[in-house]
This record gives sequence, C-alpha cells and structure tokens, in this order.
Amino acid sequence: MRVFLSMIIGLLIIAIISILFTQELPSRVKEDVNMATDDSADLQSREYPEGRLGEVIRLGETLVKETSIHPMTRPLVGNRLNCTSCHLDAGRHPKAASFVGVASAYPAYSPRESAVITLEERIANCFLRSQNGSRPVIGGQVSVAIAAYITWMSRRTPIEMNPIAPLGPNHLDMLDVEAFEPDIVQGETLYVDRCTDCHLADGSGSEDGPPVWGDHSFNDGAGLSKVAKMASWLKVAMPPDDTDLTDREAIDLAAYINSHPRPKFYPNNKTGPLNPSR
Ligand code: HEC
Ligand code: HEC
Repeated sequence: MRVFLSMIIGLLIIAIISILFTQELPSRVKEDVNMATDDSADLQSREYPEGRLGEVIRLGETLVKETSIHPMTRPLVGNRLNCTSCHLDAGRHPKAASFVGVASAYPAYSPRESAVITLEERIANCFLRSQNGSRPVIGGQVSVAIAAYITWMSRRTPIEMNPIAPLGPNHLDMLDVEAFEPDIVQGETLYVDRCTDCHLADGSGSEDGPPVWGDHSFNDGAGLSKVAKMASWLKVAMPPDDTDLTDREAIDLAAYINSHPRPKFYPNNKTGPLNPSR
C-alpha cells in the first residue's frame, strides 16, 4: 500500500513539474527570438567560432569580398564584380540584398527553376547570372565556405523556409514599378549628374565603382537586369553616401542602365568564364 501511495505522489510531482515547464517554455523561446532581431550589434561582430569552422567562415567572407580576383573564385567569374558589389558591406547592409537571416529561408521554392533549392544552389545561381560565370561545385570548398559565411550571418534567426521565392527575411522591398512609365531620357540626365563620377559615362566602371553595363557587367539573366529589381536595389544602395533617390528617379535610372547591352545568360554554362578577356 505504501509503495502504491508513494508512486501516486511521485507521478503527481512529475505532472506538476512538466506543466510548469511547458508553460514557461514559450516565453523563453520568445526571448531568444527577440535577441535575434534586436541584437544587430552582435550580428555585425566578426568574432567567428573557434577552429576549422571559424576559418571556413572567414574564407567565405573573403570570397564574397574578392570574388573576381581571389584564386579560388576567379575561374568561376566572368565579370569584374564581387558579391559585395551588390550585397553591400559583404551582406551586412540591412537592406541592400542583405545576407542577414538568409540561411533561415532555405530550402526554398524557386519559381525560376520550378524546384526546391538549397542555399548552396542559390549561391551558385548568383555565380551563373550576377557574376556572369559558372557554378561552383556543390559541396566543394568555395560553395561550402560562402554558405557557411551566410549561415553565420543568419544565426539565431528562426528557420522559416520560404515556399514562394528563394528570399530571406530581409529581402529587397520592391518598388511599385507599375506606378510610373519609366523615362529613359530622364534616367540618362540623372545618371550623368549623379553616377558617372564612379561608374563612368560609358558604364564601364572605374576604381571607384564597378561596371554597370557592357562586357564586364552582370548578364541579362541576373536579378538586377530587371528594371523592378534594379530600381528597388538602387533606392536603398546608391549613390553610396547619399541614398536619396525618389521612387521615380530609381525607376528612370534602372530603365536607363538596363537599356544598354550586357552579356547574355547561358543556362548550361558549367565550363568556366564566358568572358575571354579574363
Ligand atoms: C549584380 C549584383 C549581384 C551580384 C554580383 C551578386 N548578387 Fe546575389 N543577389 C543579387 C540580387 C539583386 C538578389 C536578390 C535580392 C532580393 O531580392 O532581396 C540576390 C540574391 C542572392 C541570394 C539569395 C538572397 C535571399 O534573400 O535569399 C544569395 C544567397 C546570393 N544572392 C548570393 C550571392 C553570392 C554568394 C554572390 C557572389 C558569388 C552574389 N550573390 C553576387 C545581386 C547580386
Ligand atoms: C562614390 C562612387 C559612386 C557613386 C557616385 C555611385 N556609385 Fe554605384 N557603386 C559604387 C560602388 C563602390 C559599388 C559597389 C559596392 C561596394 O563595393 O560597396 C557600386 C555598385 C553599383 C551597382 C551594382 C553593381 C554593378 O556594378 O552593377 C549599380 C547598379 C550602381 N552602383 C548604380 C549606381 C547608380 C545608378 C548611381 C547614381 C545614382 C551610382 N551607382 C552612384 C560607387 C558609386
């Protein structure tokens, strides 16, 4: 009888403890989530993990900044751009194609491929289109290092796989391009006035700014080759020290830039750079 009683009491205690814990859990989880969004200073920190993982993440950051010149990525790149030419501040910029939180969206559905793709495959697509180059080997050093870096930039972001598009929680705010009929002539005036100092009148770029059209730019399969994406990116990214373009100005400029020729996208290019001059 005594054994039976103490068993009942024991069970009761376990039940009470588990009720207490399940009630407390949500508030704890919430605290962590808040930390993920509020603690941006921590996300900016470059204190990478110890050991091999830290080394690989650091390599990823280097490749994102030196994509067109680094010996590991140069053979995969067909233009003069680096990932950080568009993913400003190596993806730390909160709005201009930010890498912060991106890994939490993958695997994601990609309408472009009509398939569910991984983060590594998404990275490969930017090599193919925005870098006008070829895909790094999935699981290879380049792909893993960049994926590790982007995943590190996403730590503590709750996983929310994206069923609609391969985009993370801080993706570009899209401007309503339907609101205005793009005026290319107005775009040219603005470009000459505000952009030629760094990108030059012929769009070929200089030491102060990469090419925006022509042989050494991104190809016509890249996101920025679409006026809506380009305008939305310009609005939060250019000119670098003074991002004050109105919606209309960003759209006119995007239409002007994209009215110029750029390399063609070859979906099956896996063999190396398209640009023979590199
Ligand atoms: C010419 C500009 C450009 C270059 C260069 C570029 N990208 Fe992108 N990338 C974009 C744009 C634009 C997007 C879409 C961003 C958006 O809509 O929020 C994007 C999206 C991405 C995404 C998905 C982001 C998300 O929110 O899910 C990843 C990952 C990515 N790029 C990685 C890279 C890597 C790695 C490189 C260098 C090898 C690179 N990109 C080079 C313009 C570029
Ligand atoms: C002070 C120099 C400077 C000015 C002025 C400037 N840019 Fe840029 N631009 C840059 C730099 C530098 C980058 C690459 C980002 C980085 O390295 O941080 C860039 C990147 C770009 C890119 C994406 C990469 C590429 O080459 O395609 C586009 C598009 C662009 N700028 C358009 C413009 C437009 C349009 C204007 C005028 C409204 C403008 N920029 C004004 C320096 C400048």
